[in-house]
Amino acid sequence: MGKRPEWLETAVFYEIYPQSFKDTDGDGIGNFKGITEKLSYIKELGCNAIWMNPCFESPFGDAGYDVADYYKAAPRYGSNEDLEELFAEAHKLGMHVLLDLVPGHTSWDHPWFKESQKAEKNEFTDRYIWTDSIWESPEGYASLRGISDRDGSCLVNFFTHQPALNYGFYKPDRPWQQAMDAEGPMATRNEMKKIMSYWLSKGCDGFRVDMAGSLVKNDDEGKGTIALWQDIRSFLDKEFPEAVLVSEWGEPDKSIEGGFHMDFLLHFGPSHYNDLFRCDRPFFAGKGDASEFVAKYLDSYNKADGRGLICIPSGNHDMDRLAKYIKGDDAKMAFAFLLSMPGAPYIYYGDEIGMRYVEGLTSKEGGYNRTGSRSPMQWNRSKNAGFSEGDKADLYIPIDPDENRPTVEESMADEASLLNEIRRLTAIRSAHKAFRNSAGMEFVCDGAQGKPLAYIRSAENEKILVVLNPADSDHVFNDIRVKELIYVLGEKPENKESGLVVKAKSMFFSKI
Ligand code: GLC
Repeated sequence: MGKRPEWLETAVFYEIYPQSFKDTDGDGIGNFKGITEKLSYIKELGCNAIWMNPCFESPFGDAGYDVADYYKAAPRYGSNEDLEELFAEAHKLGMHVLLDLVPGHTSWDHPWFKESQKAEKNEFTDRYIWTDSIWESPEGYASLRGISDRDGSCLVNFFTHQPALNYGFYKPDRPWQQAMDAEGPMATRNEMKKIMSYWLSKGCDGFRVDMAGSLVKNDDEGKGTIALWQDIRSFLDKEFPEAVLVSEWGEPDKSIEGGFHMDFLLHFGPSHYNDLFRCDRPFFAGKGDASEFVAKYLDSYNKADGRGLICIPSGNHDMDRLAKYIKGDDAKMAFAFLLSMPGAPYIYYGDEIGMRYVEGLTSKEGGYNRTGSRSPMQWNRSKNAGFSEGDKADLYIPIDPDENRPTVEESMADEASLLNEIRRLTAIRSAHKAFRNSAGMEFVCDGAQGKPLAYIRSAENEKILVVLNPADSDHVFNDIRVKELIYVLGEKPENKESGLVVKAKSMFFSKI
């Protein structure tokens, strides 16, 4: 893998679900111009990079994760030129933008799939994975059957309408299973390179890659998929060496091996991420246990061995909002954690003001239970919370009906708000080398039941101790002393003869 682009060292990301961020034309759905208008808000928050969910032509059966044309922006968000302008304006502010690349599947409305369904052989016959008889279903995978004259079942990745693109099988063991280097899989791979080149040449800075770990089939250990990404990375290293790749994989040792710069800890898979934020007793709500998370994190951190970064998100468009589980000062502590850990932090739009998970909504665009985390951004107390000038009935998803719903405007004006705490935290992060994304990290206390979570970040001569104690009781560290506090929330810690006393429900960063 080539060198990691310099800007990733200090990147703090903001995830935007474009449908719900800011509508400038009154049709009730967010758009590129709205995002461009709000770039300075994002920058003031302390975020200098954006990941935007898919914004390409699509029937929107899965909110755009069902692409019908990779080369065309969805008209509801604006034109390709509007998107280019968004890149350019972000760059002027020193910010970077990642698009969401969905390489694993398309919509069944994609013209490639229409061609692939035909009985006669054509250029797209092998673009998707078909068995060679309608009576055979691909074992271990869901499939589409009986929908065309072509005799075969077609493997799907996620929803029924998302047929899987063909990157081949790691170990083909049926006649219809093609090898990774067969003509069809290679054509799919080359097309993905072309799509990436197209958007990179228009000014995007890289991609968050959807379901990056599952492209090659029958590949339990991920070896085929790793090799595939290594090839794509070496292509990018030649053509677009600055292009950033972030994976939705959830196994950093594998994705980083594949050439990704960063991987997410996710709410599924082995990460124990939910132990901290979303479970019956989340650590940051003061009752939980962070030790399994710490053990798994360390394992991944050591395997990544400085070659790549691990990103911890505040939430995303697939999980319940953080505020459903963690509120008030506990939320401030959760953000102090996110903004002091190594790797690039990701803030999901609205989490910075504590937007609620809206219960009881009808599913929108394949959102189902995820719909409640995708409601429109709440900017102020004006019409439609300042999200759109359109009719209430036309809004993409209704605004949170709670009269006390938080807004950006009020949060800005309140010194004690979560938003202002986040601004202080991002400022501290950017002022200290020890908080750089790849600076060192060592756990001091693993947050096992009733104990704080504590770690030391370090770079060059700087060492900063972070202690987060969401529990109701004080904790004493025998062998630690604080020197110079740089951030405290709650009661200050005290250096006593018996040791360092960390107060209940408090947190601090201190030079040591
Ligand atoms: C990813 C996306 C999710 C989508 C799925 C299928 O997990 O984050 O929103 O539904 O992939 O593309």
